Amino acid sequence: MSVETLTKNSTQTTEDFLPLLGTDHIEFYCGNAKQSAYYYQSAWGYELIAYAGLETGVKDRTSYVLRQGKITLVLTTSFDPDSEISQHVRKHGDGVKYLSLWVDDARKSFEETVKRGAKPAMEPTVFKDEHGEVVISAIHTYGDTIHKFVERKNYNGAFLPGFAEKHSNMEIKPIGLMYVDHCVGNVELGGMNKWVEFYENVMGFKLLITFDDKDISTEYSALMSKVVSNGNGYIKFPINEPAEGKKKSQIEEYLEFYKSAGVQHIAVATDDIIFTVGELRKRGVEFLYVPDTYYEDVMDRVGAIEEDLEVLKSLNILIDRDEEGYLLQLFTKPVEDRPTVFYEIIERNGAKSFGKGNFKALFESIEREQELRGTL
Ligand code: FE2
Repeated sequence: MSVETLTKNSTQTTEDFLPLLGTDHIEFYCGNAKQSAYYYQSAWGYELIAYAGLETGVKDRTSYVLRQGKITLVLTTSFDPDSEISQHVRKHGDGVKYLSLWVDDARKSFEETVKRGAKPAMEPTVFKDEHGEVVISAIHTYGDTIHKFVERKNYNGAFLPGFAEKHSNMEIKPIGLMYVDHCVGNVELGGMNKWVEFYENVMGFKLLITFDDKDISTEYSALMSKVVSNGNGYIKFPINEPAEGKKKSQIEEYLEFYKSAGVQHIAVATDDIIFTVGELRKRGVEFLYVPDTYYEDVMDRVGAIEEDLEVLKSLNILIDRDEEGYLLQLFTKPVEDRPTVFYEIIERNGAKSFGKGNFKALFESIEREQELRGTL
């Protein structure tokens, strides 16, 4: 069965009750934010733009704010072993706590989603400093992950009130990252439809594409995935759940090590993936291995592309095509010791899908890694 792009027709055409302007920032809770910040600056070319910690009057934690293009990462470590931050790190390892969404009205975003069943995480709260004010509210999503709604139209500081502008002395070499393309959540077996319904009913998202386990399976393991997107398409959240296989699926492995549902990967967009992946490789970022055999029949599958296949092959970049164009993508290995969170680098040349054609080749590659870890 081949599942084509499906846009589920809404029975009523109502106004978008949760207009989203984009991804505001992604905050990780981590064991050592200082060293993580160094990694994202040196390897990924993010620039330090703001900081909160002892020197800025914050007594219980340190946060580094990093930016490249429209992508903002926040890395936070707590000093208090009993804090919610430390507990999060103890349970999950380094992981995404906040997938924060940029909105025009954080109060209304909270009201509209809570009214539809969202579990509140933070009532709308005003934060002020000399650069203006920001309103933030938040709701829970899968696992311990939270969506913040950030309203910053009356603010012109470096990041948020409570953060001081800060730059590092490092020579930063950006790698062409532009924006967050999509963020993927792994949820427990049987949880996918529940969370798809959450995004549809509570946040007004639409179901975009359905993969089933025939699309995404190898001999041993499989997953099911559905993609939801908000009204303007700026926010796309694929939701994965494990499917039956002969051995443990990569989603099960994630759930076992993350200890709950959580963010599996963040896809970041570039318009020159050859440069981006080439730089990342030079700087020691590890990617999934793609077998040479992948390139033997890839052109039959995707047709003509602009890039030189030999160059793509030398960098292990994957290629896929849909009705609207093609895309180039590649996945890093997990970026912490637990086999949990990783990144995808994606260059879209018209294609709006997520690389379904690569899933089988990719999963065979992931399973080789799992085999090495003895977790297959
Ligand atoms: Fe992805």
